[in-house]
Amino acid sequence: MDTKRVWIPLCGLALHCGMTSIGMTQFKPNYDEAQVPHYALPNALVGRSGERVSTARQWRESRRAEVLRLFQQQVYGRSPEPSPAMRFEIASRDERALSGAAVRKQVDVLFTGSPDGPQMRILIYLPKAAKGPVPMFLGLNFGGNHTVRSEPGIALSTSWMRPGEGVENNRATEQTRGAAAGRWAVEKILERGYGLATIYYGDIDPDYHDGFQDGVHPAFYKEGQTRPAADEWGSIAAWAWGLSRAMDFFETDQTIDHRRVAVIGHSRLGKTSLWAGAQDLRFALVISNNSGCGGAALSRRRFGETVARINTSFQHWFCGNFKEYNDREDALPVDQHQLLCLIAPRPVYVASAAEDRWADPRGEFLAAWHADVVYRLLGARGIAALGMPPVDHPLKTGTIGYHIRSGAHDVTDYDWQQYLDFADLHFARR
Ligand code: GCU
Repeated sequence: MDTKRVWIPLCGLALHCGMTSIGMTQFKPNYDEAQVPHYALPNALVGRSGERVSTARQWRESRRAEVLRLFQQQVYGRSPEPSPAMRFEIASRDERALSGAAVRKQVDVLFTGSPDGPQMRILIYLPKAAKGPVPMFLGLNFGGNHTVRSEPGIALSTSWMRPGEGVENNRATEQTRGAAAGRWAVEKILERGYGLATIYYGDIDPDYHDGFQDGVHPAFYKEGQTRPAADEWGSIAAWAWGLSRAMDFFETDQTIDHRRVAVIGHSRLGKTSLWAGAQDLRFALVISNNSGCGGAALSRRRFGETVARINTSFQHWFCGNFKEYNDREDALPVDQHQLLCLIAPRPVYVASAAEDRWADPRGEFLAAWHADVVYRLLGARGIAALGMPPVDHPLKTGTIGYHIRSGAHDVTDYDWQQYLDFADLHFARR
């Protein structure tokens, strides 16, 4: 039977069920390891001209830029510089949030400086007991900031929203307040001395294909331009760009330790956190939770979701050029292990879930494994393993962390536990 994935929009929960069609051509994902085709990965340490990279200096000075450019031109698309007119406005500040455990702020980022232009709202929780600038976790959310905690002081998102429970006419209702709280271990994060900042991804670009007429793209079109060129930003790149704009704000806020920011994302937003971390060196740690195809999973394996399938279901996520690789994965000049190489030597954590075959857990592990050479070249520890670990045995002592948790596509307290330990190790908080 053809297995299709159904997306529950509010939380980005994806389930497998035996459906035969959801209005697109039949696609039979491969879930059989024996059917994974033979493939050769592009060597992270060999340049396009055949030059071997054998020193950290060569990586830093030439090969890294080449790999970054290939991802920009062929996969996610190039993003613009922020507008010099961008402004931040503090929309609220509550010193007694979460029964006195936290300071809660809401900050508006006006991307073009104009209140009528595109903008996003950052929800920030900081531990009340903090003595100095706070290290942070920063991640986009699927259903609006008000879904992360049910506190009435969090403004209900007014941006476009995919249909789902508690969503009426593509707008969130009060019914969705706190609906995603299970995915954000806010109390635990604060107890461990970290802050949390989150943004509704639809503030930056609504997650549907409208030819890039809404969201942030049009504000950056050149005169006469009506949609991004084939090598310009799709939605994932726009969401990642938004994360960098949050970092711009952190750099202005004395209460935030902008040198210790971990960028995190789940699923499509895990693809996004990886791309944000790859491009923006200010992110000190990067976490990909079940990011799958176009995220941590190797495209050439064609296990679960494939390039053709993702480009068909979600035409707006990647740049136009990426469609050239539909059913032509071997022609890609890069594969996803090199996305992790771009993060090196900064710590990166890749997480899979055993039942999340659509995201290809083994392909996610192998990308981490094959990124190791660049980490080591740069003097970092790389991955602390001899092979893929068993389920529920996290590898969190290296510079590349990895786990495959039992259960489904989701973000759980177990995942957060590992991320907090990993951040403690690398942010020297033990
Ligand atoms: C779909 C999509 C995945 C994505 C997921 C999500 O299942 O095929 O690539 O990661 O949605 O974001 O929830």
